[in-house]
Amino acid sequence: MKIMALGIAMLLCPLAVAAQTVSSPNGNVKVTFALTDNGVPTYEMSYKDKAVVKRSRLGLELAKDKHASKGKNETDLMDGFKVTSTNSSSFDETWTPVWGEWSQIRNNYNELEVNLNQPAADRNIIIRFRVYNEGMGLRYEFPQQKSLNYFLIKEEHTQFAMTGDHTAWWLPGDYDTQEQETQETKLSEIRGRFKQAVNWDNSSVSVFSETGVQTALQMKTADGLYINIHEAACEDYATMHLNLDDKNFVFESWLTPDATGLKGCMQTPCHTPWRTVKVSDDAREMLSTSLTLNLNEPCKIEDTSWIHPTKYCGVWWEMIVGKSTWEYTSGLPSVKLGETDYTKLKPNGRHGANTAHVKEYIDFAAANGLDQVLVEGWNIGWEDWANMWKRDVFDFVTPYPDFDIKYLNDYAHSKGVKLMMHHETSSSTQNYERHLGEALDLMNKYGYDAVKTGYVGDIIPRGDFHYSQSMNNHYMYVIKEAAKHHVMVNGHEAVRPTGLCRTYPNLVGNESARGTEYEAFGGSRPDHTVILPFTRLQGGPMDYTPGILETQLSTWSDNPNYVHTTLVGQLALYLTMYSPLQMAADLPENYRKYDDAFQFIRDVPCDWSDSRYLEAEPARYVTVARKDKKSDNWFVGGKCNEDGHLTILNLDFLDKGRKYEATIYADAKDADYEKNPKAYTITKKTVKQGQKLKIQQAPGGGFAISIKSLTPNPSK
Ligand code: NOJ
Ligand code: CA
Repeated sequence: MKIMALGIAMLLCPLAVAAQTVSSPNGNVKVTFALTDNGVPTYEMSYKDKAVVKRSRLGLELAKDKHASKGKNETDLMDGFKVTSTNSSSFDETWTPVWGEWSQIRNNYNELEVNLNQPAADRNIIIRFRVYNEGMGLRYEFPQQKSLNYFLIKEEHTQFAMTGDHTAWWLPGDYDTQEQETQETKLSEIRGRFKQAVNWDNSSVSVFSETGVQTALQMKTADGLYINIHEAACEDYATMHLNLDDKNFVFESWLTPDATGLKGCMQTPCHTPWRTVKVSDDAREMLSTSLTLNLNEPCKIEDTSWIHPTKYCGVWWEMIVGKSTWEYTSGLPSVKLGETDYTKLKPNGRHGANTAHVKEYIDFAAANGLDQVLVEGWNIGWEDWANMWKRDVFDFVTPYPDFDIKYLNDYAHSKGVKLMMHHETSSSTQNYERHLGEALDLMNKYGYDAVKTGYVGDIIPRGDFHYSQSMNNHYMYVIKEAAKHHVMVNGHEAVRPTGLCRTYPNLVGNESARGTEYEAFGGSRPDHTVILPFTRLQGGPMDYTPGILETQLSTWSDNPNYVHTTLVGQLALYLTMYSPLQMAADLPENYRKYDDAFQFIRDVPCDWSDSRYLEAEPARYVTVARKDKKSDNWFVGGKCNEDGHLTILNLDFLDKGRKYEATIYADAKDADYEKNPKAYTITKKTVKQGQKLKIQQAPGGGFAISIKSLTPNPSK
């Protein structure tokens, strides 16, 4: 670590006093802070001397609390500030993640700390800027002081004034879900597209404005700058959406409220999450920057030896597609925990999580080098799980009578496999917190070390939204309790991530976007997975559940839907959708059918020492080469949208003087995600550094290559 004083340039600015600029280590990104004449904090940001964020205001509006004198609002933290002092510093440190895309990550920034005093209320706050080569983060800090012990937030007013009518890839700003398709429009067209983007007539959608969007928001300017707005380290705070003034192209933060409309309850000392703006003229840099992780705190879990990347299969897709069921019996109107004797009930004959069937999955995992088997529908309560009178439906410890929890865990362990736990909370969060201790003890007893959690439905009893401060605290509570039990967590329907997996690396995955399950519910557009790396994946890995090789579901079920990629496109996702948790989501019988293609899934690791983004363009294509953490082997994946894409793959990343065997899984000439999805070729070639491979990706297709080292590293 290296800390040194930085020269801060004093600028003359007609709109403001006390302007100060801090630059990124390479000088490309500049952020200037200034106060207006009436003491409003502002900032602006540029990249290679082009404006990225025009002068934008900063501040927080407070809500009245019951201790405030009658009729008098709290003084907002919006204006009337004076700069009392500024500090500048530099930071350059390389850290080692427990798992990730790189085995080492450099955290290098220049910082400006602005200390502000608001004489009218005698309050001090700090605004801190960290400027990286790929963008910046800013946050508000609230030291503990006599006049600011606690406060309630009515709204945060952080603005991001864009320079023009950029193209944006956006999701409607919903307080509860990101399981939607991304829209690609100009900023000025968001309002016109909004009702179509959201299921407007559905009374349960919780959108707040016709120009409100979610983060991470990816944009592209007319002159080729890529800009991404998101947040980092959102802990004990509500998730931020952006509301657009579409006349002036100014975004403003819009926090997720609680059930009463309040947006934050703060007790000093405390701070907001980082508000981040990433920028580059090269789309690949949007994917290779670790800015979000770097703005999170270092790992807080001392012993991380039990945290590991995991490849898994599961009793899951067959239920999603509709062939088997989570529930054991049918037509039971209401199950009461402790009162319903399941052994007396008639099984429906389609219960997926039965001992014999789970055993087949364990055998399949063991035979194919998969680490774990997820089993959903193992515990009582599924007959009544989504009812609107939700109570204590699940206790997370009582198996159905046909699921022999001890036998199956022992059997799995004898084969070198683990079962993966499933806790669907149905958003009855208080019930989950009540049972969590026992549920984790049960996992320890039988040797589970990972849990997939789920938050389907409205949150009870609080009635808060999925992205509110209280829910964000709930997810953190679960992650921390799980860590005490050495359990990894993969949260579905939970809040979108903001890099907290650096601090708590047992948070190995989240869904928090539209996953593969939607292919069984009608499908997702082929460009979906070449947008997600620019948006949802900016905050952390996604449990996307790829690997559906039998793309036509009607071949084995009554489900008429099909997967909107080619078969090879599914293989590519193991590279392009980074995650330390990767599912082989299809059924064992389908993998047997396409066993030669399944070889790639057997071979592909999910932990990397190096990653090189070779081509990228939002919603068009992403190609990445990754080096296995445990060997000298490389794996390359390319995925494209419905237009297809020709990749000229330059094998420069390979070691000089070394020979490799490449196995190339490519779309066949006439492949097409709709008309001919399962046409593929597999070719083997000896390759070396400097060679180029020409690979045509089909519409909705992709490619995947495993590159195995044939010779020892000449430099070792
Ligand atoms: C929705 C999740 O995304 C899915 O993976 C899960 O199977 C169901 N909820 C049931 O928990
Ligand atoms: Ca889901």
